[in-house]
Parts: sequence; structure tokens; C-alpha cells
Amino acid sequence: MITISTTTADLTDLDTDALVVGVFKGGIEGPGASEALAALDLDDFPVTPDFRGDVGQTLRLAAPGQPFGSLLLVGLGRMDAISPAALRLAAGEALRALPSVQRVATTLAQVNPTRASIEAVADGLVLGGYRDTRFTSATDDSGPTAAQLLVPSSLLAEADAAIGRSRIVCTGVSLARDMVNTPPGLAGPQALADMTRDAMPSTVDVQVHGMDWLVERGCGGLLQVGRGSDSDPCLVELTYEPESPVAHVVLAGKGITFDTGGLNLKPPTGMPDMKSDMGGAAAVAGALQIVGALGGRVKVTGLLAFAENAIGADAGRPSDVLTTFDGTTVEVMHTDAEGRLVLADALGYGASMHPDVMVDVATLTGAVVVALGPYQAGLMGNDQRVVGDLTQAAQVAGESLWHLPLPADLDRWLESEVADVRNLGGTGPEAGSLTAGLFLQRFVGDTPWAHLDIAGPAFLSSERARGHQPAGGTGFGVSTLAAFVEAQLT
Ligand code: BES
Ligand code: MN
Ligand code: ZN
Repeated sequence: MITISTTTADLTDLDTDALVVGVFKGGIEGPGASEALAALDLDDFPVTPDFRGDVGQTLRLAAPGQPFGSLLLVGLGRMDAISPAALRLAAGEALRALPSVQRVATTLAQVNPTRASIEAVADGLVLGGYRDTRFTSATDDSGPTAAQLLVPSSLLAEADAAIGRSRIVCTGVSLARDMVNTPPGLAGPQALADMTRDAMPSTVDVQVHGMDWLVERGCGGLLQVGRGSDSDPCLVELTYEPESPVAHVVLAGKGITFDTGGLNLKPPTGMPDMKSDMGGAAAVAGALQIVGALGGRVKVTGLLAFAENAIGADAGRPSDVLTTFDGTTVEVMHTDAEGRLVLADALGYGASMHPDVMVDVATLTGAVVVALGPYQAGLMGNDQRVVGDLTQAAQVAGESLWHLPLPADLDRWLESEVADVRNLGGTGPEAGSLTAGLFLQRFVGDTPWAHLDIAGPAFLSSERARGHQPAGGTGFGVSTLAAFVEAQLT
């Protein structure tokens, strides 16, 4: 992970490989831009058809003989619309545009000298600099290792505090990315449980509930989904419990370590991406790591529902009936609608703890990707306050959620002729994300609850990578959940 530091040095005193400066839309220069351009004998900003200062556009200029090595201009968008989110994207885009540079310096922290903006710049640099080199033999593609933020001395204390929090948050996001990016053959339920345990700070208690516990507690959803795999399912329970907590939050994550679809086998095209089907569980793990590191007075329980949805001689069949943790019987109409089955157990178990609030995170439906695209998650819930708090937390975190309904009149689409409920809503793809949400709602009782469907943003193809969000696992949700927990203080 890149190390961020502060400096009060001038542009001309820097010793770095690349300097990143911002430019607003229309070529209006951000802090340091005119000095840097003047040093290159360019009086005017080089507006070209490809570089107009839109958020995240970049233009790299050689700077022979200059102490800053080379100059990277990065677009910030409209000056009157500058926000932490725009700065996070721009800083991330800048880092991704400098793959073979070692040291970076930037004036971006001066664009909008608030704590939130400086933190966003630090986030963007660290997250945009994320690379997963665990499985490559090349050693020269590791990207920048250090970044300096140029700040006036009046901003030093603020900047150091922002960098400190950013580092903790980005460590959690990177954990979630690493978990998602680990090839699924190396990341079955037990391996991911081990990875989670190894990453937690000492303030977080880790219990891995294996087969005996699942059978004893009647977790028929996890057992049913996992039965086609040689790797047994498990439920990981993470607990951060401060002295005299002011609130208790349960976070539950879908952790399908690979989703073949089961006997309702998926077509080949979309299947490689299904190693990301534990992105919800990974987001909860990342959030607990942050909560444990930051401390705070909110008790948080993380429940990671890990299973592999495989085919095998004992794989679950369409028309099987199972019983979940809370005693609900479910008719499995479709083995590819497995996420809701493992979450039924996690939500039922979470609700039995009577928390103040419960949130689940899941790569649950393809339908939400059709509706909202690759950068936004669907948000559903049974409680306006939770929905509002999550929307606000996401804004702080620079993640985008869109509120979708849980229409009561579609609930009867889940009625089964042989069991209490079935795992498929209706007959076709209509309202697929909403009926999935309605299914989950049946397991939360009267606990205030919300559901994040992150099937779009959890994992990006290389064409969709942008800003601080790289190709592969993005860690989407980690930062929102951490901000949500912090906000439950009041
Ligand atoms: N893991 C998938 C959802 C998904 C799709 C995530 C694309 C990320 C990208 C989920 O388990 C699934 O297969 N859902 C089915 C549900 C259907 C069978 C009711 C879907 O969306 O097609
Ligand atoms: Mn599936
Ligand atoms: Zn799935």
C-alpha cells in the first residue's frame, strides 16, 4: 500500500518522479498548475479535444530538467461542483495513469482545504494505487510506493489527521479487494475464514462456525447451497464489543466463494466473474477491520455466510425443500438464486441477537446491474431511518446507492405450494432485485434493516475501471459500512 506523507516544500524544491496537479473544466488551473506549466514554458493550459478538465481526464507532460520529473494534469470537473467524491476519483485516476512511476507528489489536497476533501485525495491515491501482484511473476509493475501531499503549514495538522483515517479505511477496502481477487480455487469457505481471521485487529473476536454448529443451529440455507462442494460451508462471526456500547449493529454478507449456478448451471460467459460472489462478505470483513482499528462505542457483529455453489453428486436440486435458522421452510425453485438462501440463515441468526439495526450486503441479482449499471448499488429496507443513514454514509464514503422499493403487493410472488416460501419471485425476470429483497425481508422480523445489492460495483471489468476503482474487486461497501457504524453514535 502506498505511503502518504505531507510536505510544505515548494514545487521547485520537490524530489519526485511525477507531480499531479488539478485542472477544472474549461482549463481553469487548480493550485500549483500555473507554476508547474510556467516551469515547462507553457503559459497557457494546453486544452485539447481530449483533455478539457472533465473529472478524471489525464494529460501527462514530460518535464526534462525539472525536480518533479514529469507533470500529470488531472481533470477535476466544474469548479463550482468540486466535491470530495470528484477529488477521490481524480486522485485515483492520476495514480492509475502512473503505473511505472515510483514517487508521486500532488497539490490536490489544496484544491478544497477541508478535512473531508483531503481525506478523499488520500483515499484516491491509495486506492488508485492498489495492485494485486500476488499472482504475477513480473516484478516491475508494482506502481507508485510513496505519495507526498503538498500543503501549506496551516493545513498540516488537518492533513495528517485525514491521512491517518484514510489509511485505516483503505486498509479495510484493500482487504476486501484481496479477498475478492484471490482465485476461487484458493479461496473456499475455510480459506476465506482464515484470511479474515488473520486480518482482524486484536479488538475483533473471530469465531468460525463449521458444519457441527450449522447442523445444530439448523442453518439449512448454508448447508443446502454448500452441499455440492467438497469445501464445507461456514458462518464467520466477527465481534467488536466496546465497554458499555451505545448501540449494536449487525452486518451480514453474502459469501458465495464461487457461484456456478449449481444444477441450474450458469452459461459460460458470465461465470469467471462469479469469484466475486463473496464481495458482500468481503465488504463486511473490511468494515469490521476498520471498526476494530478505529475503536468507538458501537458494538458491531459481522456475519460472513460462506459457501461454494458448486455442482456435484450431492448438489441441491430444484424443488428441494430446506429449513432455515429461524424455522422457515423454503422451496428451492432455482439453484442459482442461492445468495438469498445463505443470507436467510445469517439474517435470522442476526435478528435473534435483537440488534438496533441490521444491514446485509450481497452481490445478489443480475437484475440490479441491468437497472443501475456498474457503479451504483441498490438499497432496499424496511426502515426509513436506516435507509437515510446509509444514503448519507455512502455520500461521506464516495459510494453511490440508489433507493429501490420493496413493494408489498409483490410479496405473494414468493408463495410456494409446498413450503412457507420459495426462492424465486414470479415466473420471469420481472422485478428480480425487488423480489430478492422481499425474500430477505422475511428473515429479519421487526429488526430495522436494509439490504445493499452490490452486484454491479463489487467487481469491475477492465473497461469499467475508473478513478479509485480498479479492475477486479473494488471493495465497494466497505467505506459506506464503516461510515454508517460511526454515524450510529448519536
Ligand atoms: N451471484 C448472482 C448475481 C450476480 C449476477 C452477481 C451478475 C454479479 C453479477 C446470483 O446468485 C444469481 O445468480 N442471481 C440470479 C437470480 C435468478 C436465478 C432469480 C440472477 O440474477 O440471474
Ligand atoms: Mn447465483
Ligand atoms: Zn450468487
